[in-house]
Amino acid sequence: MKANKRIIPVSSGKGGVGKTTFALNYALSLARHGKTILVDLDMGTSSVRNLIDTPVERDLYHFFKKGHTLGDCVTTLDARLDPAGDYADFGFIAAPRDVIDDVTNMDARRRDALIDAINELDAQYVVLDLKSGLDPAVIDFLPVSNSGILIFTPHLTAATLAASQVVKAMLFRKLRALFAKGSEVYASLPGLAPSSVNALIDRAEDAYHPQPINLDGFIDVLRQTLGDHPVLRLVANAIHFFRVHFVLNMFSGVEESYETAVRPFTENLLSKVSGRLSIMNLGWVVAHEQINRANARRVPVLLNRDRQRKDPSAELARLARRYLGTRSSSTRALSRPDPAQYLAVQLDTLRRMDDDLKNAGFRENFKYIVYRSLHLMASLRVSDFGDDRLFKPSEISAALARRQRH
Ligand SMILES: Nc1ncnc2c1ncn2[C@@H]1O[C@H](COP(=O)(O)OP(=O)(O)OP(=O)(O)O)[C@@H](O)[C@H]1O
Ligand SMILES: [Mg+2]
Repeated sequence: MKANKRIIPVSSGKGGVGKTTFALNYALSLARHGKTILVDLDMGTSSVRNLIDTPVERDLYHFFKKGHTLGDCVTTLDARLDPAGDYADFGFIAAPRDVIDDVTNMDARRRDALIDAINELDAQYVVLDLKSGLDPAVIDFLPVSNSGILIFTPHLTAATLAASQVVKAMLFRKLRALFAKGSEVYASLPGLAPSSVNALIDRAEDAYHPQPINLDGFIDVLRQTLGDHPVLRLVANAIHFFRVHFVLNMFSGVEESYETAVRPFTENLLSKVSGRLSIMNLGWVVAHEQINRANARRVPVLLNRDRQRKDPSAELARLARRYLGTRSSSTRALSRPDPAQYLAVQLDTLRRMDDDLKNAGFRENFKYIVYRSLHLMASLRVSDFGDDRLFKPSEISAALARRQRH
């Protein structure tokens, strides 16, 4: 296994927002910086292979049914698609060509086996293209301490709300694992009963409760009942250091994208989850007919070389460092969040990035997002952007308690 490997899941909550298109071109762009494998975990529709006109010798069928290792099931690009070998470090693992019930609808045992195998993959970057929805086939492949990359688009407001539901599901999964009965965290939390914390977590999750509270309300209730107890900082930090990373697809200008995507997303998290989360806009991809056409022709759009343009990489790498705001202090975690400022930061970031990226096309968009990702990976803990491994459901509780100590 490679040192500093990062597994980066791409999810959206709702379908049709451009997850697969993004995951594919993002993985291709990352492959210019290190060995990258894209894994198609959307088992029902085998979408990745439909976007790449390259013969697939082995796919996840061979992993699940024929005893091949996952590494054996990696397909690299055909020389026709990549004649100069620019993307020699890119590979993908295709989902099965046809629906096969016990693969398409993996049971827990198969999911665990796949998680182990993904952890063992020999690559610097592993990008996961997830199916839409919020069932275990999605949730179990998401990181425990950050959101991976969420995609939504100003063109589909319902998808924006679904993306915020993904964050809610992940954060509650994290809290439930942290406070599971028997968890090691109770050793440093005197007098705290698992049943009462869990009842409170249930209440904070329940938007239908007659007096709903979000996680900030959850912290307030803990403070009222327990006073200045160490559990307050534990919960506040668990939320404050949960990082949400998003990309806007089919970007349509600052004002519209803010009103129809970024604002509802942020407001929804603020009201349903918490104003303590760190939300990071990684960038956007403009809508372009060439992207659509490339998908239909099964030649990834970034493989169509555009020789007229001068390579803007150095400038983009410089610009991508801005507005990352990576310094997060735990002293702020316990203070009450300010909703107005929470929204203002998002609008301000959108405007500044738009200023920086004037006239950028989709190629520059992908490069910019990749540079921002690389900066984040270099400056944050591994668990803050993707992670160096996925945890099986049975491992999450112990892993979180262990990380809490460090
Ligand atoms: N930036 C873009 N510009 C133009 N067309 C796009 C762009 N992004 C995606 N599309 C088109 O939108 C459609 C949906 O894209 P895609 O299949 O990537 O979405 P998805 O979220 O993976 O969907 P699913 O939920 O079915 O997996 C495709 O026809 C694709 O070509
Ligand atoms: Mg897809």
